[in-house]
Amino acid sequence: MSDSVLQVRHLTKHYGKIKALEQLDLDLPRGSVFGLVGPNGAGKTTALRIIAGVLEPDAGEIMIDGRLLDGDHTYWAAKIGYMPDFFGVYPDLMAWEYLDFFARTYRLPAVQRARRIDELLELVDLTEKKYTFVQALSRGMQQRLCLARALVHDPELLLLDEPASGLDPRARVAFRTLVKRLQQLGKTIFVSSHILLELAEICDQVAILEKGELKAAGTMAEIEPQLTKQHRTLRVRSLDELSSLQAFLVQQDGVLSVRQDGDCLEIDFGGDEAAIATLLQRVVAAGFRLLSFHEISSNLEDLYLQLTKGETQ
Ligand SMILES: Nc1ncnc2c1ncn2[C@@H]1O[C@H](COP(=O)(O)OP(=O)(O)OP(=O)(O)O)[C@@H](O)[C@H]1O
Ligand SMILES: [Mg+2]
Repeated sequence: MSDSVLQVRHLTKHYGKIKALEQLDLDLPRGSVFGLVGPNGAGKTTALRIIAGVLEPDAGEIMIDGRLLDGDHTYWAAKIGYMPDFFGVYPDLMAWEYLDFFARTYRLPAVQRARRIDELLELVDLTEKKYTFVQALSRGMQQRLCLARALVHDPELLLLDEPASGLDPRARVAFRTLVKRLQQLGKTIFVSSHILLELAEICDQVAILEKGELKAAGTMAEIEPQLTKQHRTLRVRSLDELSSLQAFLVQQDGVLSVRQDGDCLEIDFGGDEAAIATLLQRVVAAGFRLLSFHEISSNLEDLYLQLTKGETQ
């Protein structure tokens, strides 16, 4: 994989008994928008913090442009712009001062700093708020300012941790447009969210994480069959007692759970079409008189929700 900006191999991080990340592998193609999706506690922030170099992993390797992340954080810091999920409040700073503060930490010379700050404010549409105190900006504006902060040193790779959380629908659209704009400027963007469909539109590829493990990864077109394979809903009607059919079904391969819904049974099923056909054969062979047996089409978000229950560990 020559044109991966970022390669993650076997990345593992445990907090005591909690497996925040377990053998995570990822490849981010240069110039792509790559989504990291998972419910609360899936390990998204842990992954991004490790990649940003602010948290030590237990095991695993991270390479940027083919170079291993090691003790030399200077090279690393120049390449990466990290927007954390939580940003501190700097009540006494105006928007431009906030950016100036971070530009100084990257040792940008004064003349360059002033120009860079104006460019960034323009990019995130905050030019008019240059002299407004950070505290007086709306949440959406603060998020954009925080994004500008991550861009101060013109990094190649942007790590955005839930950048759209807490934004209203209009601000979310604006944020998506901004991410696309950054992609057009040649950046590679690694962005997390707990909502699959929010990322589907802007991401070239998506990885779905649940309890620190990768559940599916690829383009949206590739993800869909992976999710479908792992989780389907089947609906069955029968002339027989539903409770006896239910008792039979829960013992069959691939059946995750069965619930009664009116005069039907709904089966949570993990398996491909051949496995569904096998299940149908078994039910018929067992003598149940079926009126109907079919798969209910689920949309992608439903499949994602079924796959990732978001339970705490
Ligand atoms: N400093 C810590 N100490 C102990 N456990 C932690 C710590 N940080 C994270 N965890 C645990 O690691 C797991 C992954 O957490 P993480 O914050 O990476 O998830 P997340 O996907 O970012 O969740 P969210 O959507 O809520 O932001 C969780 O079970 C969390 O409780
Ligand atoms: Mg998080």
